[in-house]
Amino acid sequence: MERKIIKTSDGSTTIQIVDWNEQYHSIHGAIQEAYHVFIKNGLSLFENESIAILEIGFGTGLNAIITSIESEKRNLKIDFVGVEAYPVNNEEILQLNYLEELNVPDYKDQFTEMHASEWGKPCEISETFSLTKQQKFFIDIKDVDAYNLIYFDAFGARVQPELWTEDIFLIMFKALKKNGVLVTYAAKGSVRRAMQAVGFQVERLPGPPGKREMLRATKLLNDIR
Ligand SMILES: C[S@@+](CC[C@H](N)C(=O)[O-])C[C@H]1O[C@@H](n2cnc3c(N)ncnc32)[C@H](O)[C@@H]1O
Repeated sequence: MERKIIKTSDGSTTIQIVDWNEQYHSIHGAIQEAYHVFIKNGLSLFENESIAILEIGFGTGLNAIITSIESEKRNLKIDFVGVEAYPVNNEEILQLNYLEELNVPDYKDQFTEMHASEWGKPCEISETFSLTKQQKFFIDIKDVDAYNLIYFDAFGARVQPELWTEDIFLIMFKALKKNGVLVTYAAKGSVRRAMQAVGFQVERLPGPPGKREMLRATKLLNDIR
């Protein structure tokens, strides 16, 4: 499918799937959305500890680089696993302006290494951030009690409804440790109910610019309903 780089309202770039008219991030601001959904309402629950994060859709690496930046500020040691079936290519990576927009030129080597790192192998990006990229489909995730936090950043239910189902959320529920948390930009009632059906406790939180609400799901129980 044709992909093209576009600019979002906060000046940061994203990738658009042209045929679907679907973006990798909110058109109201890719960086703003990433910080609001995944850092403010997810990562900020943790500090001074070692945690494992699973990202559903590694994509451009925006969530990975901001998580690496934040790991230093919050004294976290992070094992980050990014699952992605359709990796971005070098030409696309070169057009992403995240380091300029975040004003973090010092992270250029980290961002380059994140994209250059071999699929399926852990890579020490820094003292506080290790990355393992896995090229596979979300349905094939088999981890159990492995993660403290999931960034659920699949394309929307409008274009990929099969990724917002009880089957997928059961895989996520199993992959999380007890008290583990999943955050997503989505807020649909059907999504919330699918999460609840597999055992998650779900909160509706204020959304990023351009979106009223988002969801945060917590695995309070070990037994699946
Ligand atoms: C919304 S984008 C992720 C954006 C990413 N988190 C970032 O920071 O750039 C969704 C991603 O899921 C990937 N994807 C779509 N369907 C998939 C599937 N069934 N299994 C694995 N990856 C998939 C897409 O290629 C895309 O990179």
